[in-house]
Amino acid sequence: MKLTIDEERMLAGELGPGVQRAMGLLIAVGEAYEAEKLIDISSSHILAPEMQFWNTGQLSRWARELVAESVEGATHFRVPVTINPIFLEPKIAERLGYPQGYIEEMQQSLAYGRETYARLGVIPTYTCCPFYIYPLRQGEHSGGAESLVVLFNNSVLGVRVNRESGPTALATALTGKTPLYGMHLTENRHGQVIIELKDDLDPGAFTYADYNALSYQAGKMVVDKIPVFLGLPQNISITQLKYLSAPLGVSAGIPMFHAVGITPEAPTVEAALGGKNPEMTIAVGKKEINKAFEELCSATDPRIDYVFLGCPHVTITEMKEIASLLQGKRIKSNLILIIGIAEPLRLLAQKMGLVDIIQDSGGMVVSGMCSAGSFLRRGVPEGFKVGVVATNAAKAAHYLKAGGVQVWFGTMQKCINAAIKGKWETA
Ligand code: F3S
Repeated sequence: MKLTIDEERMLAGELGPGVQRAMGLLIAVGEAYEAEKLIDISSSHILAPEMQFWNTGQLSRWARELVAESVEGATHFRVPVTINPIFLEPKIAERLGYPQGYIEEMQQSLAYGRETYARLGVIPTYTCCPFYIYPLRQGEHSGGAESLVVLFNNSVLGVRVNRESGPTALATALTGKTPLYGMHLTENRHGQVIIELKDDLDPGAFTYADYNALSYQAGKMVVDKIPVFLGLPQNISITQLKYLSAPLGVSAGIPMFHAVGITPEAPTVEAALGGKNPEMTIAVGKKEINKAFEELCSATDPRIDYVFLGCPHVTITEMKEIASLLQGKRIKSNLILIIGIAEPLRLLAQKMGLVDIIQDSGGMVVSGMCSAGSFLRRGVPEGFKVGVVATNAAKAAHYLKAGGVQVWFGTMQKCINAAIKGKWETA
C-alpha cells in the first residue's frame, strides 16, 4: 500500500505506540482487501467499553492494550468519534437479578472504559443511533463498528462506511484513516438483487414491526448481496427507515441496501443497480412477512416478565406513541418495561412530559443502554434466566432467540398491551 509521509510517521511510532499499533492493523486490513491506499475519514463510531474490554479473548486484550498505549501517549481521537450504548446499566442489572459479583465486575470494566474513552475525546453519545445527534452528509467517508450505524449511514444518508470490527473502528478513530476498499468505492455500492412487494402488501399501512419483518426476511433471502427495495412509500419516515435498516444487520451480512427514491444514490432502479441487470428478483408478500413474525418468536409461555422497546433507540415520534398508549394506565406489577433511548432525546422527551407519563405507568426510560444487550453479555452466569421477553424489534428478537431466551415479537401496541396485562395475546 502507498503511504503518505504522515502515515509513515504514524507507522514508525512518531505519534505514539497506540497510533503505531492502530496503523499496523489498518495496513494489515488494507492489504487483505488489496486496498491501494488509506484515505482520510471525517468521523468514526466505536463499540461500547464492555464490548471491547470485558472478556478474556485476544481481541479484547488487543483493544485494551491499544487504548492504554494511546492514553499513555496522550493521544486523542483524530476525528469526531461517537460511541455505541453500553450493554447493561448496573441499576437495571440489579433489577433483573444478576448476581452481585457479576455486576461489580461489569461496573469496573465500564468505569475503566468510560474514563479512558473520555480522555481520548469521545463524544459520549452512547447510542446506536448517533445520526440523531451527529449526522453526516452524503459522500463523507467514515469508520464504524455497529451494523445499524453502517447500514443507516450508507443507505439512508449516503455516507461511505465499511462494516468494521470493534478494533478496526478504534484504529480508524485513533488515526483518522481507513483503507480504501468496499463501501468507500462507488463500484461496490450498487444493488444486486431486486426486492419487490407483492400486491397483497400495503406498505403505506406498515407498522414498525412490519418494516422489521420485511427487512429480516429480505436479509435472509439476499444473504450477502445488496438489495434494492422497490415500492416503499416515498414519505417513509426516519423511524421507519431505522426499522428497515436494523434487521439486515443480523439476517444478512451486508453493509448497505437501496430503497428506490429514498437512498440518495438510488433516484431510479437503474441508478441503484449501477446500470447492470439484477442478479435476481425476489417477491415478498404477506406469506413471507408472516413467516418472519413466526420465526422471530421462540416463546410458548404467554406470561411476560420483561418488555422492551427501543432497539434501535427510539425516536421522539416513538416516545409520543408509547406515551399515548400508556397514558393513564399501569403496567403489571413485577413486570419490567424498558424504553431504550439516547440521552439528548431523553432530555427532550422529559421536557415534553413524555418520560413522566411512561414512568407514572411503571415503565422505565433508560438512556445509553442497548435494550437487547441486557441478556447478551458474554459470561452471563450459568443458569441465570430472565423469563419471557416481548419486543417489537426483530434485531433484538433474533439475538434473544439465538441466546436461548423465550421471546415474543410483535407490534409496539401488542408489546404495550402485554406490559399492561402481563401476558402475550396470540390472537
Ligand atoms: Fe441498538 Fe442494541 Fe438494538 S445496540 S440496535 S439496541 S441490539
